[in-house]
Amino acid sequence: MRDRIVAGNWKMNNDFNETEKLLDQLKSYPEPSDVKIMIAPSFTQLYQSVQLLKSTNISVVAQNMGIAPSGAYTGEVSPKMLKGIGVNTVIIGHSERRDIFKEDDNFLTKKIKIAIESDLKVIFCFGEKLEDRVLKNHFEIVANQLKVALLNLSYKNIMKIILAYEPVWAIGTGETASAAQAQEMHSYIRNIISSYFDSKVADKVPILYGGSVKPSNAKEIFSESDVDGGLIGGASLNAEDFMNIANSF
Ligand code: PGA
Repeated sequence: MRDRIVAGNWKMNNDFNETEKLLDQLKSYPEPSDVKIMIAPSFTQLYQSVQLLKSTNISVVAQNMGIAPSGAYTGEVSPKMLKGIGVNTVIIGHSERRDIFKEDDNFLTKKIKIAIESDLKVIFCFGEKLEDRVLKNHFEIVANQLKVALLNLSYKNIMKIILAYEPVWAIGTGETASAAQAQEMHSYIRNIISSYFDSKVADKVPILYGGSVKPSNAKEIFSESDVDGGLIGGASLNAEDFMNIANSF
């Protein structure tokens, strides 16, 4: 069976005190036994979160990473720095990185390579914009994003990737892809992975859905056969909502 994963992307929220409070609240809920729970705080809160979550199975993920193992990259954080504090997974390609910080597919492919060479797991985000969906180009856009990022990975390295399909029009907008829309795209994505590698590999790669997942819609979305969990933004800032989502399989 594929891993079921619920990952909370805190984005640029939660300072030191807020992190302590939210993690205390999270720890007061029982963890579902068959779901991997992850949270992605800001860089400054990673070490604190790793320490506070030591007694749990919740893992701590970085929201981003620099593009080299080390060197003259002012303001960046290296994979080694992340590993050194117990962070073993990084989000790459979030639509906010693509849109606001102009990270394109080639740049992101470089980041994936560096992450994997540094023995980090990657949550790779991709998805179409509203205009792509309106023009019915969404399959083509997603196929291209996957091709650039994944086609040249080895069989061994594709197993270090968690995919996160996040239609940009659903992120932070309150609008969600329907469960049927999510399933349609996830099954398309799994077929692409199968064509690049084989069906055994495609069967193992988790594909998360992201975009306005809430306790009220998580169950329906997660019930689809190719949806293996979610990448949760807004709702991950509230412990009760986040744990409700984690219990929605
Ligand atoms: P949202 O964000 O749940 O607030 O829509 C999802 C994401 O950006 O990963």
